[in-house]
Amino acid sequence: MGRVPRVHTTIDGVVYQDEVEPRLLLIHYLRDRLGKVGTPIGCDTSNCGACTVHVDGLSVKSCSMLAVQADGCAITTIEGLAPDGGHPVQRAFADCHALQCGYCTPGMVMAAVDLLRENPDPSEAEIREGLEGNLCRCTGYVNIVRAVRAAAEEMGAPGARIHPAPEAAVLPGGVPGAESAAHASAPAGGGTGR
Ligand code: FES
Ligand code: FES
Repeated sequence: MGRVPRVHTTIDGVVYQDEVEPRLLLIHYLRDRLGKVGTPIGCDTSNCGACTVHVDGLSVKSCSMLAVQADGCAITTIEGLAPDGGHPVQRAFADCHALQCGYCTPGMVMAAVDLLRENPDPSEAEIREGLEGNLCRCTGYVNIVRAVRAAAEEMGAPGARIHPAPEAAVLPGGVPGAESAAHASAPAGGGTGR
């Protein structure tokens, strides 16, 4: 029988050492072994972005990476982004009503944080492009874009280039499938895979 790999990681500030199956996906390691269920699984095709976490500071779809590939890495999940849920992006999502069922929200928030790290003052088009790897079935994306802009401004972006009023915010294109809401409202949660 082959040797079982051992992975050393730091996840949400805690050091872990575990033996893992070589085929174990990072998302299953996080959820099933460590109980990090704040990071959801939304598909099995690396398509939806719900499972997005940060690996060494960059957003990654954790269903597209093996746990063994995370050896030596520092990983942040939505649970470790701000222990009190108080990251500006999380607050902006709540304030701007940027979620309905909340299933996509952890991945959206993690992707948005990475986007703002790379581009602290994104235009609406840049936000839509930056979040194109994350799908939302509920919101139509308009309030998600508003939330990311609001977070950028709270975090010190120099230009308040857009702050669309809700009625003026329906723009064509951008994040894929800008469909309108069809789901019932519900709680908050918190991806762009590379
Ligand atoms: S679960 Fe959908 S991209 Fe990972
Ligand atoms: S899938 Fe995005 S809020 Fe429901």
